Amino acid sequence: MDFLWIKGGRRLNGNVYISGSKNAALPLLSATLLAKNQIEISNLPNVVDVKTFISLLKMLGAEASFDGKYAKIETLRVQETRAIYDIVRKMRASILVLGPLLARFGHCEVSLPGGCAIGARPVDLHLKALEKMGAEISIQSGYINARAPLGLKGAVIDFAKITVTGTENIIMAAALAHGKSTILNAAREPEVVQLCEVLSCAGVQIQGIGTNELEIQGSDGELLEIPPFKIISDRIEAGTYLCAAAIMQSCITLNDINSLHIQAILQKLQQAGFDYKVNGDSLELIPSKVIQPIEITTAEYPGFPTDVQAQFMALATQAEGTSIIEERLFENRFMHVGELQRMGAYIELDGNKAIIKGACQLLGADVMATDLRASSALVLAALRAKGETRIHRIYHLDRGYERLEEKLNRLGAEIQRSKE
Ligand code: UD1
Repeated sequence: MDFLWIKGGRRLNGNVYISGSKNAALPLLSATLLAKNQIEISNLPNVVDVKTFISLLKMLGAEASFDGKYAKIETLRVQETRAIYDIVRKMRASILVLGPLLARFGHCEVSLPGGCAIGARPVDLHLKALEKMGAEISIQSGYINARAPLGLKGAVIDFAKITVTGTENIIMAAALAHGKSTILNAAREPEVVQLCEVLSCAGVQIQGIGTNELEIQGSDGELLEIPPFKIISDRIEAGTYLCAAAIMQSCITLNDINSLHIQAILQKLQQAGFDYKVNGDSLELIPSKVIQPIEITTAEYPGFPTDVQAQFMALATQAEGTSIIEERLFENRFMHVGELQRMGAYIELDGNKAIIKGACQLLGADVMATDLRASSALVLAALRAKGETRIHRIYHLDRGYERLEEKLNRLGAEIQRSKE
């Protein structure tokens, strides 16, 4: 297993190129199951989750090549409809094959994702929505068995709670279904928008893209012809590098970003005293001498993303005053707190609220990565800490950050990857 060794205290400076979005890539890889043509995808991030998803498609029978940025995928010969436990346990987002497989083949079996470090994360809303579209679903030996022998039919789906992958699953199912589907209380994350746009380019009629009410006209089971597309830039990676620059009170420039997708993040950085300049698809963060305390409540897009909550907590340890972070989406997404405390942070937990007393001197320590975004918060704390930090179990980081240590070292950090 690899760990990261980080020597703290180095200022950052320069440019960083933001990769394609992991969370946009995964549903779009799944959408290849809806197509009859070979699909060309560019700007994929070279991260473990993307490679795992491509392996899953290959296990189902797809032909796929991936050179770390571009992929060519053809699913015409897919016959297998079972997504096995061994893959799903590695990556919960495997659930994204449920909608497309069921819509295309009229049956499928997908291993039920278990709990995960950040909470129970059920998939009940995905299943209820598919049942509304005519599917018969049972759970057997840890697998979701879904059947719709006559195909899925359009329906009105009113999600009780906003779910990103749930919305994506139903959009893909509705694209091949018979008749029109309406999705109410849909997620409107940029990744959901890109999925809709790609399907639109393939001829699927979708109304309300970018809103929480979508209307999708199904193709009556006919497979789609999906033209080549480029994955949007990763707004969570962008937020992570902005926090890295902020915690080091450094000036860096992000390239290849869409600043419209990170407005909630930029607003909180402004609250913390930072300024920024946008120039096309670049953004320069201007450091602040004093970091002001922040108040954050995570929410669905366009609210503040839960996926950068942990990184802002690391930043809040350096604010001149007390910050409050409330996590509304996941019940157990404070796993990083204990590790930040080991580095000297003053954080109290009160249910789903963290109260962070700022201006602390972080000290390097041995710490454990617990989930993807929690791990990046530890990297940020280590950049700022006095002395050396070793972050263990960084396979979590590798799931979603492309060449993290290389990018940070180019900005002036001192990080090495080693074997335990
Ligand atoms: C996606 C993102 C993840 C992000 C999250 C919230 C991907 C691959 N992952 O995860 O990075 O942190 O959105 O922005 O895009 N829920 C249910 N029943 C369901 C589905 C969800 O109760 O059937 C609950 C969840 O437990 C959670 C909330 O709804 O409390 C939101 O979860 P959801 O939006 O579904 O997260 P994911 O799509 O898994």
